[in-house]
Amino acid sequence: MTSKPGIVFVLGAPGSGKGTQCEKIVDKFGFVHLSAGDLLREERNTPGSQYGALIEGHITGGTIVPVEITCSLLEKAMIKSGSSKFLIDGFPRNQNNLDGWNSQMGAKVNLLFVLFFECPQEVCTDRCLQRGAAGSGRSDDNPESLAKRFDTYINATMPIVDHYRAQDLVRTVLANRSPDEVFVDVCEAFDGIKEA
Ligand code: ADP
Ligand code: C5P
Ligand code: MG
Repeated sequence: MTSKPGIVFVLGAPGSGKGTQCEKIVDKFGFVHLSAGDLLREERNTPGSQYGALIEGHITGGTIVPVEITCSLLEKAMIKSGSSKFLIDGFPRNQNNLDGWNSQMGAKVNLLFVLFFECPQEVCTDRCLQRGAAGSGRSDDNPESLAKRFDTYINATMPIVDHYRAQDLVRTVLANRSPDEVFVDVCEAFDGIKEA
């Protein structure tokens, strides 16, 4: 018996469909979805935030915000929601994220598994560019930022996926298909988790 919240980390390249699939998981399995990127954008947009400029610099440069900021935003959102199961989307993205999470939150949560979306870079890039063209308003859905985001993904995030893979905690889903097709496999990954 554990009273700790259960969490699933959701990782994958920019545009691999993490946010899209998380919404479906929320509906079916009753998790609360916390996107690290969304929380950072919200903090950046908060008038008077001391971190606004720093966050925006990292977002347009495709680099990763120091974990103290992101982890605090995640913990605050977890406490505020009062839920006992969370999808933590886009985190941990590098070794600093992983270390900071483990020391601040590791003992407070139960990591269920890591959901990993595998998708070719060209597909992901096209999706993000389309998202930008469709008016996402994101300052990083452009070719220059995307190149840097992929660089970070390959060099900093993939080692984190490999770290969890070595512990047999990664459930991989091929994401280069329609959202509904992807979701069939996502549901399999959640096998054994009670529906909402
Ligand atoms: P991420 O959170 O991984 O960056 P999103 O879920 O925001 O990805 O998806 C990026 C863009 O691609 C969005 O415009 C979304 O509507 C679109 N998208 C998501 N999943 C698919 C899919 N399976 N097929 C085609 N387009 C998709
Ligand atoms: O996940 P998403 O694509 O919304 O992330 C957008 C940006 O937010 C990242 O490219 C990065 O600059 C920042 N971010 C971060 N640390 C995280 C998640 C996102 O710095 N753990
Ligand atoms: Mg997203």
